Amino acid sequence: MKILYIASEALPFISTGGLADVIGSLPASVRRAAGEDTDVRVVIPFFPAIKQKADDSFELVSHGEVTLAWRHLYCGIWKTVRDGVTFYFIDNEYYFDRPFLYGAYDDGERFAFFGRAVLHLIEETGFVPDVVHANDWQSAPAVIYLKKSEYSAVKVLFTIHNIEYQGKYDMAILGDVFGLSDADRQTVEYDGCINLLKGAVTLADKVSTVSERYASEILTEYYSSGLYHVLRASRDKLTGITNGIDVAYYDPANDPEIVKNYSADTLGDKKENKRELQRICGFEENDAPLMVMVSRLASHKGFDLVKRVLYDVLRETDITFAILGTGEAELEEFFRTAASDFPGRVAVRLEYNKALSKKFYAGADMFLMPSKSEPCGLSQMIASRYGTVPIVRETGGLFDTIKPYNEFTGEGNGFSFTNYNAHDMMAVIKYALGIYRDTEKWEKLTRRVMGVDFSWNASAEKYVGLYNSML
Ligand code: GLC
Repeated sequence: MKILYIASEALPFISTGGLADVIGSLPASVRRAAGEDTDVRVVIPFFPAIKQKADDSFELVSHGEVTLAWRHLYCGIWKTVRDGVTFYFIDNEYYFDRPFLYGAYDDGERFAFFGRAVLHLIEETGFVPDVVHANDWQSAPAVIYLKKSEYSAVKVLFTIHNIEYQGKYDMAILGDVFGLSDADRQTVEYDGCINLLKGAVTLADKVSTVSERYASEILTEYYSSGLYHVLRASRDKLTGITNGIDVAYYDPANDPEIVKNYSADTLGDKKENKRELQRICGFEENDAPLMVMVSRLASHKGFDLVKRVLYDVLRETDITFAILGTGEAELEEFFRTAASDFPGRVAVRLEYNKALSKKFYAGADMFLMPSKSEPCGLSQMIASRYGTVPIVRETGGLFDTIKPYNEFTGEGNGFSFTNYNAHDMMAVIKYALGIYRDTEKWEKLTRRVMGVDFSWNASAEKYVGLYNSML
C-alpha cells in the first residue's frame, strides 16, 4: 500500500500544536502496523524554521512551477527520510517564509498553493498513492484539487483535528484565488462563504476525527462550530480513532530534557524534577501540591473556568500553580496578574517551548485540562506518561482517555467532571488535593496513571483497517 499524508506541520521538523505530534508519529506507526513494504510518505510546507535546522540528509527533489488561477508560482520539493518514512517539503518563500505558520490575511491562498503543489509532487515523483490521508483545513485545498484531477480515483481520508478552524473565505475569491469555477461552488459553499473544510469533508471517501467521542460530538450543534448539517449528511463515512503519543519521545525513563529520569518503579526520583520545576517557578522547594497547565491560551481550552475559580482555589487550599503557553492577550494578562497577586504560588511562562514543557510534565503532581471541547488532546496522555495525574473535563478525547478515579475500588486514571462549570471543576480539584494528602493512595494512583498504554499501537492498526476498507 502507498500512503501520502498531507498536513501543515510535523515533528521533529516544526510544531505549533498536537497536529505536529500526530503527523510526526502516526506515519511510522502505520508502517510498522501494515508491514515494512508499505510506502509511507508525508508532505508539509518548507517553513523557515525547518530550513534552518535542515541537515545533510535533506535533498532537492525538483524545482519547477505550479499554476494557481492566473498565478505561476515557484515550487521546490525537498525530501528527507525518517524512521522509514519519506518527508517532502514544499518550498516557496513568498508563501511560507513568514515568522508564523498561520494567521496571515492570505492563508487561503497560501494553502491553495500548497494544495496545487501536492498534485505537482505526485506528478514530479510519480508516487501515486493508494490512499491520501489529509489533515485539517490547511490540507483541504489539496483534497479538492485532487478529487477534481485525473487522480480522482485516489482514496481520501480526511481527518478533522479541530472543527473550529475551517478555512472560510469570501465567495468573491473562488476563481481569482482558488482557481475554482462556478461548477465547484456547491462543493465548497457553506453559509454563503467558501468553507474549505466543508469542501474536503464532502469530497473525501472517509472522514475521521481524533477520538470516538468527538466524532459523535461534532454531530451536535454545540460542538460542530456550525457544521453539523454537513457532518450529519456525511455521517456514514465518519469515524473516530483516538490518537496515540510517541511513547519513546515522551518517556521519563529516557528523556534528556528532565533533570532526573524515572519510571513507575523509581517514582521517588520524580521528586527531583518537582524541585527543579519549583526552582524554575520561583516557588519554595516543599511538598505543596503543584498543579500545571501546558496549553495554548485559547478559550476552548477551558480558561473561563480557570479564570472564575483560580483565586478561590488558591485562597482555600495550599495549591501552587504554574502555566506554560501562549495565546490570547487577555488570558496572558490574567495569568500575569495572578502571578503578581500570588507570588511564590503562581508562575507563568508565556511561551511555546517543548523542552520546558517536558519539565512541567515531569515536575508537576497534577495536570489541569478543563477544555470546553477537545478533539483528542495529547497533553493529558503525555502528563500521564510522566506520572502527573490529569484533571479533565469529560469531553472529546479527554472523555475517551481519562476515567475518573474511584478511591474505593482504586480504578480510574485521573479526575474528571462532566459539566462546563467552574465550581464543579473546583470541587474536583479539591477532591484530588484530598487524595494527594493520602500519600499511599496517591502513589498507587500515580503508578496506575503511568501504566496506561497510550502508544500508537492500537490506533495504528485501526487506521490500517480503515485504509484497507477504502481500497
Ligand atoms: C488539535 C486538537 C487536539 C488534538 C490534536 C491532534 O490540536 O485541538 O485535541 O489532540 O489536534 O489530533
